[in-house]
Amino acid sequence: MTDAALTFTDLTLGYRGHAAVHHLSATILRGSLTAVIGANGSGKSTLMKGIAGILRPLSGSCTMQARRLAYLPQQSEIDRTFPARVVDLVSLGFWQKTGLLGRRSRADRDRLEGCLEAVGLLGFENRALDSLSGGQMQRALFARTMLQDADLILLDEPFNAVDQRTIRDLVDLTRQWVTEGRTVLCVLHDHALVSQYFPQTLLLARRPVAFGPTEMVVTPENLRRAQTFHEAWDEDARWCDGAAGARGEDLANHGADIRKVAARV
Ligand SMILES: Nc1ncnc2c1ncn2[C@@H]1O[C@H](COP(=O)(O)OP(=O)(O)OP(=O)(O)O)[C@@H](O)[C@H]1O
Ligand SMILES: [Mg+2]
Repeated sequence: MTDAALTFTDLTLGYRGHAAVHHLSATILRGSLTAVIGANGSGKSTLMKGIAGILRPLSGSCTMQARRLAYLPQQSEIDRTFPARVVDLVSLGFWQKTGLLGRRSRADRDRLEGCLEAVGLLGFENRALDSLSGGQMQRALFARTMLQDADLILLDEPFNAVDQRTIRDLVDLTRQWVTEGRTVLCVLHDHALVSQYFPQTLLLARRPVAFGPTEMVVTPENLRRAQTFHEAWDEDARWCDGAAGARGEDLANHGADIRKVAARV
């Protein structure tokens, strides 16, 4: 039995024939906590959608060994004007277990309450989603994720526009999931947070720039290289040829630098 939760094999993802993430090969181990970083437009959300099965690979493959997946999309993709209450949103976490209209047992209701309590939203059950602050909405989404009881969890910029205390609470919750043996991939921009809490990091610039222990990935040299790749990117490029999906530096040589190290927490 392999210890991998997720395996990328020469994975290329994109939209209508335009590649947005090129030639990613890496193994994410079970029970690991990985930060996914990179500039705006570097392909982070595209990778999350590829893992979640929303986008099919243009080439290569993404194989999930985990049984159950939870995906928290980037906030900008969530419609908060939908007329629903906190309890409706969080209950969506039951969907994989009982279906949307399935009956909830006493134990289910207790679990839901436990998740709301864990994120500090007990008493908010009947609040309309559009009345929540950004941080409260994020807490509700974490409660839903928690309820899903997934062994692979994808979080796309979950700490955006939330205050320090909420970030700390949600990071603690995320680390708790990892100690329970779950695998977490989290997209974020705050490098200080990444260095403090995330043992391993994948740095993207439309292609993988570096992957491995955070202290070896989040370095001035790698960040400079990522910036160079990003700025050299041709938005109108039709397709990629090996690693030559962008212009500028000798990208093919950098491909060999990617470390397929997946440190356990
Ligand atoms: N639905 C889509 N159709 C066409 N192109 C898209 C689509 N979604 C994203 N892209 C393009 O793919 C590239 C990668 O986008 P992606 O959303 O993955 O970036 P990101 O790293 O998540 O950026 P950000 O930090 O701004 O969230 C961008 O050039 C973007 O314009
Ligand atoms: Mg994004």
